[in-house]
Amino acid sequence: MIIAIDGPAASGKGTLGRRLAEHYGFAHLDTGLLYRAVARVLMDRGIPLTERDAAAEVARNLDVGHLEDDARLRGAAMGESASVVSAYQPVRDALLAFQRQFGAKEPGAVLDGRDIGTVVCPDADVKLFITATPEERARRRHRELLGRGEQAEYETILVDIRRRDERDMNRSTAPLKAAADAMTLDTTHLDADGAFQAALDLVESRRASMTRA
Ligand code: CDP
Repeated sequence: MIIAIDGPAASGKGTLGRRLAEHYGFAHLDTGLLYRAVARVLMDRGIPLTERDAAAEVARNLDVGHLEDDARLRGAAMGESASVVSAYQPVRDALLAFQRQFGAKEPGAVLDGRDIGTVVCPDADVKLFITATPEERARRRHRELLGRGEQAEYETILVDIRRRDERDMNRSTAPLKAAADAMTLDTTHLDADGAFQAALDLVESRRASMTRA
């Protein structure tokens, strides 16, 4: 069983993915971390993010199963840099096999990202597309960053989110978009528990129709 979750920056995909995975006893992969990790290696080596070949090389050699997950990887700067390197097709190609293998985990897997329902797991049993207004997403990310002790300004985050959405939606390779068979959940007016409950209802309704079919 595969649950694919896609959506724009700071839409709450990660939290939802983690909670759904816990609920069903499935494995969970936040695929954004893979692109963030590629960006981090380039930055640590002083290589400009515009070096496509170097980015692809880093992606091919990334130790995908053992990412060092820390505040810097999850920080705002790395999200922006990830969105630059993730637009390169060879970078995406290099990370595809690992994501697909992850999706084959038993008894099931939850993957969240931008292209899970469209490219990585087009046959996923359940596809969710999570949205919220840019302002609400910026508010959430602002709270999250402050909570982690990072310096953050709401206005700067809102600009960053809009720029990143724009880049992710308009790139030629695996653009951010809802799969034709995805169920869209707008979480603008939902808190984390409300979003989880609404997502769970959608997953359960899909599972019920699967067993009937
Ligand atoms: O957590 P947040 O929504 O801010 O970002 P993320 O999910 O960690 O993703 C960071 C960046 O990686 C995104 O802006 C995308 O450009 C890229 N990404 C992607 O292209 N495909 C994915 N499956 C996941 C992330």
